[in-house]
Amino acid sequence: MTTLPLEVNGRAWLVEVEDRASLLDCLRDVLGLHGTHAGCEHGVCGTCTILLDGAPVRACLMLAAQADGHAITTIEGVAPRPGEMSLVQDAFCETHGLQCGYCTPGMVLTAEALLAANPAPSRAEIIAAISGNLCRCTGYGQIVEAIQLAAERRRGANIPAVETAP
Ligand code: FES
Ligand code: FES
Repeated sequence: MTTLPLEVNGRAWLVEVEDRASLLDCLRDVLGLHGTHAGCEHGVCGTCTILLDGAPVRACLMLAAQADGHAITTIEGVAPRPGEMSLVQDAFCETHGLQCGYCTPGMVLTAEALLAANPAPSRAEIIAAISGNLCRCTGYGQIVEAIQLAAERRRGANIPAVETAP
C-alpha cells in the first residue's frame, strides 16, 4: 500500500491505494466517484475517460500513482454547482444524446476537452474526437448533435433572436 496525494475536481486528497491500483479503481473504490464507469478495463471502450490536466485519458490504463502531480477531472467535477449540469451535459439531454448512459460520462468529458481546445469543431472533427468512445445505444448521431449544440452555445451562437416591436 502507498499513500498518494491526488488532486481530483479541484480538491486535494490523500488516498491509500495498492501500488498496482489503477486510477479507475482508485476513483471508484477509494474516492467513491462512480460516475467514472468501468467497461472493458483494457483501453478499448473509453467509458472510463477522465481529464488529466484537461486532456482525455483512459483511467483504466493508468496507475493511480501516475496521476500524482496532475489535475484530474471526473464527470462529478464538470457541473458549475451542485444540482446543476454543465452546458455540454445539458446539450446531451436536449438532443437525446444518451440512452442507457453508460458511455455518457466519457463522452461528455471528451467533448469538454474538444470544445476547450477547439470552440468551433467541424462535424468531422467531432466524429474524430469521440472515435475512441464506444456507444452501444445511440448510433452516435445525437451525440454529435449534442456536441454541435454545446459548441454553438459556448460561442453564444445559439441564442434565440430577440423580437423587436414594429
Ligand atoms: S474501461 Fe477503460 S477503456 Fe474501457
Ligand atoms: S448511451 Fe448506452 S452506451 Fe451510449
